[in-house]
Amino acid sequence: MTYRIVALPGDGIGPEIMEGTLSVLKRLSEKYQFEYSLSVHDFGGVAIDNYGTPFPESTQLACNDADAILLGAVGGPKWTDPDNRPEHGLLKLRKSLQLFANIRPIKVVKGTSHLSPLKESIVDDADFIIVRELTGGIYFGEPSYVEKTHALDSLTYTKDEITRIAHVAFKLAQSRRKILTSVDKENVLASSKLWRSVINEVSQDYPEVTVNHLLVDACSMHLITNPKQFDVIVTENLFGDILSDEASVIPGSLGLSPSASFSENGPRLYEPIHGSAPDIQGKDLANPFAMLRSLSMCLKESFDESKASHELDHLIDHLIQEGITTKDLGGTYHTSQIFEYILKSI
Ligand code: NAD
Ligand code: IPM
Ligand code: MN
Repeated sequence: MTYRIVALPGDGIGPEIMEGTLSVLKRLSEKYQFEYSLSVHDFGGVAIDNYGTPFPESTQLACNDADAILLGAVGGPKWTDPDNRPEHGLLKLRKSLQLFANIRPIKVVKGTSHLSPLKESIVDDADFIIVRELTGGIYFGEPSYVEKTHALDSLTYTKDEITRIAHVAFKLAQSRRKILTSVDKENVLASSKLWRSVINEVSQDYPEVTVNHLLVDACSMHLITNPKQFDVIVTENLFGDILSDEASVIPGSLGLSPSASFSENGPRLYEPIHGSAPDIQGKDLANPFAMLRSLSMCLKESFDESKASHELDHLIDHLIQEGITTKDLGGTYHTSQIFEYILKSI
């Protein structure tokens, strides 16, 4: 079987972390003897420059036909037209493929707690997954508009949308330490009242899983005072966006956090949770680990290539443990040197 992979390098540091990652994919395919086809497409700001739109039809067709999509990052100060932003392409991609479940793992690699901005005793062995609802909520609610003196966003959720993400999160918790924390703003928001009642209803199907509810403000505090309490966190789109950037620095840097997004069936999307980092673009400073871990998730989850995925994860762990890291983690290595090291080691 030939795996059909589409790569969307995007903008800013996106192409810098994608290029090396595709070389790593090639090397792993040679070692582990799997076949894939690769097509690379414009997406985001670069697609606005070349096609006038962030998600051109040719890119859409390629994504629809793929088994898996690898995405770098989109956006940057160059593209400011509020009606035609690179980020719109990303939202359209997620919505059009119905990628409602976004999995964002956070793990402190053994022996590397000193890389965290938090006290080592707080973060030692922290290991949890944020399950972010990705195609609903305030990101997609209608109406949404901005006028001169008035703006409106709509935060809507249906019972079906909450139910399907709840099942994903409960199943994941069941396969791990069996603790699910649902995060909402039930004391204020109508959508959160529905969210909490649906989570409680779905919990009846998973009697082994302990469910805790946290309000999002308190959760943001718990994340940095006691992250070890968490196993699986499930939350709505906007809260998941914010909490996952916060959580990403528990192991040391935003440049460490990968993600996988999936629908009921169809192509899956793998992307770092960070953005295009315009402030370090073109300087060979980007941490490539979030992108590489996204590739690792792709190999395991889309293609069942567990050995290749495991070797890549193991190598990344090793580099972090040895301090062979980019500047954001206190290291002195450049992006290209990290890729060279990994390619040499496989
Ligand atoms: P960002 O995530 O790009 O950067 C935040 C900070 O983290 C910056 O200081 C950056 O240098 C640093 N950083 C991020 N990734 C890093 C990495 N791999 N290695 C080292 N340092 C890293 O967020 P931002 O600056 O708020 O947004 C920049 C642009 O990216 C915006 O246009 C935003 O909309 C977009 N964005 C895109 C995605 C995506 O494509 N999935 C995600 C988030 C933000
Ligand atoms: C992310 C990003 C996106 C989001 C932006 C770029 C639309 O921040 O993937 O976390 O808000 O979902
Ligand atoms: Mn984000």
